[in-house]
Amino acid sequence: MASTPLSKLAYKTLQQGKSIAGLAHKELSTKLMELMAPEAVPSTESVPAELLNNLRAAMAQLEERDWDEAQQGIYPESQLFDAPWLEWASRYPQVWLDLPSTWTRRKERNVKDLPKQTDPTLFPDYYLQNFHHQTDGYLSDHSAELYDLQVEILFNGTADAMRRRVLAPLKRGLKHFSDRSPASLRILDIATGTGRTLQQIRGSLPHAELIGTDLSEAYLRQANRWLNNGSSPLVQLIRANGEALPLADATLQGATCVFLLHELPGEARQNVLDEAWRVLEPGGVFVLADSVQLADSPQFGIAMENFRRVFHEPFYRDYIGDDIEARLKASGFEAVTAETHFMTRVWSARKPEAHQP
Ligand SMILES: C[S@@+](CC[C@H](N)C(=O)[O-])C[C@H]1O[C@@H](n2cnc3c(N)ncnc32)[C@H](O)[C@@H]1O
Repeated sequence: MASTPLSKLAYKTLQQGKSIAGLAHKELSTKLMELMAPEAVPSTESVPAELLNNLRAAMAQLEERDWDEAQQGIYPESQLFDAPWLEWASRYPQVWLDLPSTWTRRKERNVKDLPKQTDPTLFPDYYLQNFHHQTDGYLSDHSAELYDLQVEILFNGTADAMRRRVLAPLKRGLKHFSDRSPASLRILDIATGTGRTLQQIRGSLPHAELIGTDLSEAYLRQANRWLNNGSSPLVQLIRANGEALPLADATLQGATCVFLLHELPGEARQNVLDEAWRVLEPGGVFVLADSVQLADSPQFGIAMENFRRVFHEPFYRDYIGDDIEARLKASGFEAVTAETHFMTRVWSARKPEAHQP
């Protein structure tokens, strides 16, 4: 799509529409919960006007950045408009139909309501929960079908814009291998879920070989439907724990990991970073994105606290106080940098060139 003033207006209008839709959905669903299941309503801290203004300003900055980086050619402008709109529209009623069971779990403080056929030996204990109180946790096609829509609603339509912030540091880091053919670059997305980040990387680096891993077969099935449905090179999807990747040492040039760390206990967080380090070739780049933390965004402290109260996020409180830079360095990474974009912190790090084992 050729860029015109109209396309920027179209982008801004789309974002505004998603934001209004997200806010309206949350407002309406909370009202409905108050009416139908008052015992399920979580107690939250009241949000001061200053916080709302800060959030609005940070969201506007994110959208400017999202637009600018498309203009710089970091990814195609068409990506700003890309989403499975028809599928989302047809799945939206399911999001509403799913709410009563969410309220019941919340009311009963039941966070272990998983599909009967789940084999617990295939997963770490911390994973076997209903994160966000969502039906089936991460363990069904039903959950995978609703996930992207639910995340877009949660972030008022900015989830993809936040994920896209990994692309610029990823491309910068890959310049280290600029003497190689683009098709020889291998990039892994750890805990890819339904593959939104891989889709974005494919738009940005169309020749690279892409691999995605996740613990949920259902989420990978959804990723497969969306990623491997056209003429683009196949994306390899592997069911695997990010703490123990079934990939050989030093065989990848880039790795990403988006919105995983806050769902892990500290030890597992470190194991994932260690694994990213192991599979990267010296000189390789690792880009992480996750929730902002108390140290970088103290002004959003109440929003973080409310997020934890409304959604079942058992490791979030520990995560927002964790020192991710120290963890990256403990894994062996160097040149660690970090930036904040709205509710997301993005870290970029490099595996040193001359590693002494
Ligand atoms: C909040 S979602 C993020 C998914 C995706 N990266 C995104 O941007 O939407 C967390 C994902 O991490 C996966 N996950 C959680 N713990 C994991 C682990 N130890 N190893 C691999 N995947 C894990 C879940 O199955 C889920 O798909």
